[in-house]
Amino acid sequence: MTFDSPAVTVAFTLNGRPARVVTQPLRRLTQVLREDLGLRGTKVGCDAGDCGACTVLLDGEPVCACMVHAGRLDGATVETVEGLARDGVPDALQSAFLRLGAAQCGICTPGMLMSASALLRRNARPTEAEVKDALGGVLCRCTGYSKIVQAVMAAGGALPEAARAEAGQAVGARLDRVDGLPKVLGTDLFGDDFPPADALTVRVVRSPHHHCAVKLGDVESWRRAHPGVEAVLTADDIPGRNCFGVIPPLADQPVFARTRCRFKGEAVAAIVGPAAVVEALDLSDFPVTWTEKPALLTPEAALAEGAEAVHPERPGNVLVRGLVRRGEPETALAADDVVTVSGTYSTGFIEHAYIEPEAGWARRIGDRLEIAACTQAPYMDRDDTAAIMGLAPEAVRILPTSVGGGFGSKLDLSVQPYLALAAWVTGKPARMAYTRPESMATTTKRHPARITATVVATRDGKLAGMTFHGTFNTGAYASWGPTVANRVPVHASGPYLHPAYECRSVAVHTHCAPAGAFRGFGVPQSAVAQETLFDELADAVGLDPLEFRLRNALTNGQPTVTGQVFAQGVGIRACFEALRPAWEKARAAADAFNAASDGRTRRGVGVAGMWYGCGNTSLPNPSTIRVGLKADGTLVLHQGAVDIGQGSNTVITQICADALGLPVERFTLVGADTDATPDAGKTSASRQTFVTGKAAFLAGRALRAAILQRLNARDDSRLDLDGTCLRAGDRELDLTTLEADANGFVLKAEETFDPPTAPLDENGQGEPYAAFGWGAHVAEVEVDTELGRVFVRKLTCAHDVGRAVNPTLIEGQVEGGSAQGLGLALMEEFIPGRTENLHDYLIPTVGDMPEVETILVEDPDAHGPYGAKGIGEQVLIPTAPAILNAIRHATGVLIRDLPATPDRVRAAIKGRG
Ligand code: FES
Ligand code: FES
Repeated sequence: MTFDSPAVTVAFTLNGRPARVVTQPLRRLTQVLREDLGLRGTKVGCDAGDCGACTVLLDGEPVCACMVHAGRLDGATVETVEGLARDGVPDALQSAFLRLGAAQCGICTPGMLMSASALLRRNARPTEAEVKDALGGVLCRCTGYSKIVQAVMAAGGALPEAARAEAGQAVGARLDRVDGLPKVLGTDLFGDDFPPADALTVRVVRSPHHHCAVKLGDVESWRRAHPGVEAVLTADDIPGRNCFGVIPPLADQPVFARTRCRFKGEAVAAIVGPAAVVEALDLSDFPVTWTEKPALLTPEAALAEGAEAVHPERPGNVLVRGLVRRGEPETALAADDVVTVSGTYSTGFIEHAYIEPEAGWARRIGDRLEIAACTQAPYMDRDDTAAIMGLAPEAVRILPTSVGGGFGSKLDLSVQPYLALAAWVTGKPARMAYTRPESMATTTKRHPARITATVVATRDGKLAGMTFHGTFNTGAYASWGPTVANRVPVHASGPYLHPAYECRSVAVHTHCAPAGAFRGFGVPQSAVAQETLFDELADAVGLDPLEFRLRNALTNGQPTVTGQVFAQGVGIRACFEALRPAWEKARAAADAFNAASDGRTRRGVGVAGMWYGCGNTSLPNPSTIRVGLKADGTLVLHQGAVDIGQGSNTVITQICADALGLPVERFTLVGADTDATPDAGKTSASRQTFVTGKAAFLAGRALRAAILQRLNARDDSRLDLDGTCLRAGDRELDLTTLEADANGFVLKAEETFDPPTAPLDENGQGEPYAAFGWGAHVAEVEVDTELGRVFVRKLTCAHDVGRAVNPTLIEGQVEGGSAQGLGLALMEEFIPGRTENLHDYLIPTVGDMPEVETILVEDPDAHGPYGAKGIGEQVLIPTAPAILNAIRHATGVLIRDLPATPDRVRAAIKGRG
């Protein structure tokens, strides 16, 4: 943002040194720091004072730098994250963040560190409450805050030593993140952190209506009338296909709409020029005519008789339907000796709300394009962008930046097509970062669901039949709608033995922002219905809810609802058993509390289970890993799985290290780069530890075998790498004597793993996943029955991860996923056109999060590396139903329309009398 007022010179002290800038007095301090002074450790998540990512110290006090004008700086003292470390050595607080796993994606870390630094200067040994108070203005979407609070409290004392693992002992060790240091130093480079110096800025013109006809006027005359604007890009400028999508046969989203916009925020044009010109433009004279049309905003409206087709080629507005059917559920439901429960549920759009809005840059190099942007799927980006640009895939190079949270939405293209086109057409580098409202209005969301389900059980509490119908609002374009519609029927049964089951799902187009992938692909919504109905059923047959689940939980050798039988690795019963002590203690305490309570405050305890298939549903799902030695003794791991904060860089290195037999610290990581690293698939569906980890295991083993063969050494030989000398047992080899290949490797292995699955038939019977992850949560809540306020007191989370490759990182996943589950249950609901910012759209703050206790269950999977299973999506699925069951236990009311906001809880309690 720029202003026309005259520039002023401001002199201030920055990180202990004098600084002087000539700037507009109303320029934001974030811009001064990042753009004028090149200090990009201070992050921008909202530019509105909502997220705290930009927190710096101004005269010793934490402030949001995006809300401080440059004119205020004269004579002031400013401290940023860059001022914390000394000569690259992290201070005590930064070290504590690294050691305790407090930084996941790292985008909130600078803001957290600065807020905490201000506290620690006043109070070296703060209490937990004081820490939470100090961090209350900084949002984190990854961690659930637990480890951040622990790190701040630990910073004033002696930190535990960094864990070290001997060769062969990395798996299972709580190693620091291999990519953690830049995150705590503030030097990690996210999408908007390293644009080329001369990059032009891209600004997209977007539809103001949910549904409208659009007509562009003479954009070239408009461009000429606005000095400095280098290009106005429209659909006419696209050399290839004006369309993108993550499932190529269904790709349907225009890069630029030509005649019709199907959701509010859809792009019709992009303006390219220097930042000062483009950001200052008043677009009220942009030559475009919008003609608003009636909008279909709900599946009910879109499915109504005579509703206009959002896409003419998909009459009826149905994108796709899903089905799994086993046994005869109609017969089971009609039996007279069973107990029946039914319910109808609704959930809304959920916004990913990662703290890093989509950002990146691109440049044209001859006939090639190079795009650096935040992404979860570099090879998919490459192929889709190449098709848009009319280029061969190899002509596009994708360089994923560090990713400030993704959770599914950064699987889809966002800035990439606009950057590519701008760089291609102008021949100059181009950059763009979505604003927070732009990010929230235009990127994918969790599908709103309307679910009706019925479950029957025998009088002794055995499941007898279940029917489930889910309608999902998939928005204007396909995105991952088919994946949701296909995954839900497989999972809506929960991890239980069902003799008769039918689940039907349908993804329906509306004039809303596209719904896509969000941690769980529809399973969190279906678990809300299934797990809360199970509680009602347990009550109806007179069983304790945990006992009811144990009575029906799957075991090895029993068929799932798709008929798949696992001989090993079914860990759900172990998870429920692991929760039993916490469950019994908490239920007894809640009963005692309620017996003594005045009735206004009630406590409740709920439980819920889950399962989640690792990887794509009945589709190929390969990952390839390359590892090799160079003549100078460098051990290089080409690790193309994008680490979006979950820790795949570290976990995959740990696995490869043990398979090879060398310690983790010997590895040099080469991150995702479509020109350099083999395709490790997309970071989604809880597949990176399971699938890419297995590829890393195989590659490590293969390199070890090659080394042993070359040295003619025994299979059990210990490897050592000392400079260029490679030893295996008592044999040794000077690596400089070997001939290097084109990539400089003298010894190398490359392996691929594709988990075995089998297609589903017309009834959804088959083997959709090679492995599932299993888990269950116990939620303890306190409800103010007058105000309807729900306070979650504790979450106890048991997860079968097969093998805990790095327990600290897994705990971080559980704590962060639980926070998102809590948000789903209690506060989050995105309303198109109304909640496109982080003050109207609420996500859990540090003050909302309770203690989260993680119990790791290790029932190894036969396919997973060292038995490991996925964990990324699993962690949030049981949280919301466990909380809803706890509210019901406390109050007797079940909230079936999410989120369970105070007004809804209060109304339900009052309605029940
Ligand atoms: Fe300043 Fe979000 S960027 S508060
Ligand atoms: Fe806090 Fe990612 S680590 S937002």
